[in-house]
Amino acid sequence: MTVIYPGSFDPITNGHLDIIERCAKKFDKVIVAILNNPSKNTMFSVKERLDLIEKVLEQYDNVEIDTFTGLLIDYAKSKGVSTVIRGLRAVSDFEYELQMALMNRKLDEELETLFLMSSSKYTFLSSSIVKEVARFDGEISNIVPKIVEDAIRKKLKGDND
Ligand code: PNS
Repeated sequence: MTVIYPGSFDPITNGHLDIIERCAKKFDKVIVAILNNPSKNTMFSVKERLDLIEKVLEQYDNVEIDTFTGLLIDYAKSKGVSTVIRGLRAVSDFEYELQMALMNRKLDEELETLFLMSSSKYTFLSSSIVKEVARFDGEISNIVPKIVEDAIRKKLKGDND
């Protein structure tokens, strides 16, 4: 079975990687789908996010990385996939996730959302919190891969080449 793991991934964290690793073990193929939403203010462009994720996940043979625009149900249909994976960290995630899953089901009743529990090591982790800690020069080396840490530091220095 092939599953889609969609998200903003701005940037990818060890929490996302934990979910992707779990999926790669359980399913034949995982498509990590980065939402391309030009109206959202992101630290990394879609291309930068794609490059980072490709590097971080290069050792996985059954993980594909892609981008999508518009509705997730349409993207899933275009890939011929009917299962979406989302990670749940804490009860606080539940309301938003329930809303999204039910809306997606309303739009396409064939689309099923499966939830995986994040490792307890990462319950506190989000891309936003990583960026905030980095902005104030806090330690992020144990919560994002090294190349992501370097990319964030470079961004914050305003060095975009
Ligand atoms: O990492 P995120 O930001 O929590 O991921 C959210 C994402 C990308 C999965 C969600 O915003 C999404 O699927 N957006 C595409 C637009 C869409 O299909 N919206 C209707 C479902 S609520």
